[in-house]
Amino acid sequence: MSQRIAIFISGSGSNAERIIAHFQNHQSIQVVMVLSNNAEAQGLQRAARLNIPTQVFNKIQFRESDEVIQILKTAGVTHVVLAGFLWLMPPNFIETFPHRIINIHPALLPKFGGKGMYGMRVHEAVKAAGETETGITIHEVDARYDEGKILSQQKCAIEKADTPAQIALKVQQLEHQYYPAIIEKWITSL
Ligand code: GAR
Repeated sequence: MSQRIAIFISGSGSNAERIIAHFQNHQSIQVVMVLSNNAEAQGLQRAARLNIPTQVFNKIQFRESDEVIQILKTAGVTHVVLAGFLWLMPPNFIETFPHRIINIHPALLPKFGGKGMYGMRVHEAVKAAGETETGITIHEVDARYDEGKILSQQKCAIEKADTPAQIALKVQQLEHQYYPAIIEKWITSL
């Protein structure tokens, strides 16, 4: 059976772009849609350039109705991938896609996770804590921020002189290298 991915983004969408490219000629897995809470998200343009339909929604549509879920159902979506999506997934999503929602976090959870921990804030906190390593965590999504079952972690070293921006770059390289392949493994092993 063919598996159909919807990617949720809020910003740049560099991971979404890698994921779309990874599955472009895949036999049984397709990215069918990119959705965002942010009409200005650069990732929407990246998706459109790659001929992937896009959809923007607001908080009411997302949180206080089944509207977004209906869009996913109509498109036959089987798996939801979060790639820099900053809103908490409401319970109706978790119920509709049990164990079928995955997220990437730019640090080694359970450290440096939780509400408000995203993007550069995470790398600034890692630097301030004097960590000697950081990395990525790919995990299933449940009803709380950054707490679902961990599927994969990849690490990189932090040098004393590294700035948060340099740490961000190292982490982004890991994300681009690992996230698409881990998604494929996750879907095919379910
Ligand atoms: C990624 O680094 C991702 O790990 C992070 O947002 C960035 C999105 O980059 N997600 C979080 O911080 C979630 N808490 P992208 O838009 O270029 O893919």
